[in-house]
Amino acid sequence: MSTTPNPPSTPAQADDDAVRLCVFGSLNMDLVIRAPRFPTPGETIVGGRFARFPGGKGANQAVAAARLGAAVSMIGAVGDDEYGRKFMALLKAEGVSTRHIAVRPPPPAGAPTGVGVVTIDDSEDGKGQNSIVVALGANMTITPAEVDAAKEVISQADMLLMQLEAPLESIAHAAHIAKDAGATVLLNAAPAPAPGTFPPGLLADVDVLIVNEFEGRALRPRLDPADESTFEDELRALAGHGPRCAVLTLGDRGARVYFDKSLASIPAYPAASVDTVGAGDAFCAAFACRWAWHQIGGSLDALNVHDAACWGCAAGSIAVARHGAIPSLPTRGEVASMLRGGWVASA
Ligand code: RIB
Repeated sequence: MSTTPNPPSTPAQADDDAVRLCVFGSLNMDLVIRAPRFPTPGETIVGGRFARFPGGKGANQAVAAARLGAAVSMIGAVGDDEYGRKFMALLKAEGVSTRHIAVRPPPPAGAPTGVGVVTIDDSEDGKGQNSIVVALGANMTITPAEVDAAKEVISQADMLLMQLEAPLESIAHAAHIAKDAGATVLLNAAPAPAPGTFPPGLLADVDVLIVNEFEGRALRPRLDPADESTFEDELRALAGHGPRCAVLTLGDRGARVYFDKSLASIPAYPAASVDTVGAGDAFCAAFACRWAWHQIGGSLDALNVHDAACWGCAAGSIAVARHGAIPSLPTRGEVASMLRGGWVASA
């Protein structure tokens, strides 16, 4: 395993060569309670502050990429309700194209906007860890025909980013369209798929696979987050199903990147963690932007992929230092400051 230090600085992307990303994924309103600890089954505990933050892995990655300077189109669905309207306004304000976000009528004919119920560990040593249950609602209504209708934006993108909070057959269909068109496909296999549900053929159309410890273990049960010696074999096995690159994110332990037949270790950047929601999405979006930027520049070697992972780790570290999912996502300038060692947390 090669452990290389983070580069001291990396060039900021020029405004006129924005990468084009298409994000197909979820939009959830997160209902968040900070608690002194996670409750055990059957237990009620008294929490602290309650807040509502826009989130959902798809929306988080779309907004994160836009803040990093990418031109972003999103494919997804919301309900014709208060949360859905908030999302449409928010995405427009962030510069994300909403042309392929469907608005569903209320149930029973349609479905409501997705919701995430989030508990944040507010204890001193809890580091803002989260546990989340999602009711995906409208997110699960996107059909392959609607993905077909977005063929143009998928095909014109440098990269398609997806997660697993949408129907699997539509995800597989989008991956196929992108692959046919020569766009790079990044799959963040989150949340962890239930046993036996992950379509084995999907990885054949995936170029970059990103998982955290739970998701990695769901796909490769022998991957033991506590045992680094298992990482290389298990990431190589995942890459063997199609991806050029397999990434394991490890929170405050950074990330491990399998690319070009070797494993590299990227440390996390120092930040005081108050809320980890959205940090993985910040990582994925920053990694994607930087990968696509290098790819457009004509070179994608191990050093460039390492650089992309540094951007991912820097973005993730900033996100954990702030509250909420979308409100915590950094701009390109903030990530560049973190990479130079000059990022200072603001309230
Ligand atoms: O990755 C964090 C996100 O997962 C949250 O915003 C929540 O909505 C779930 O989709």
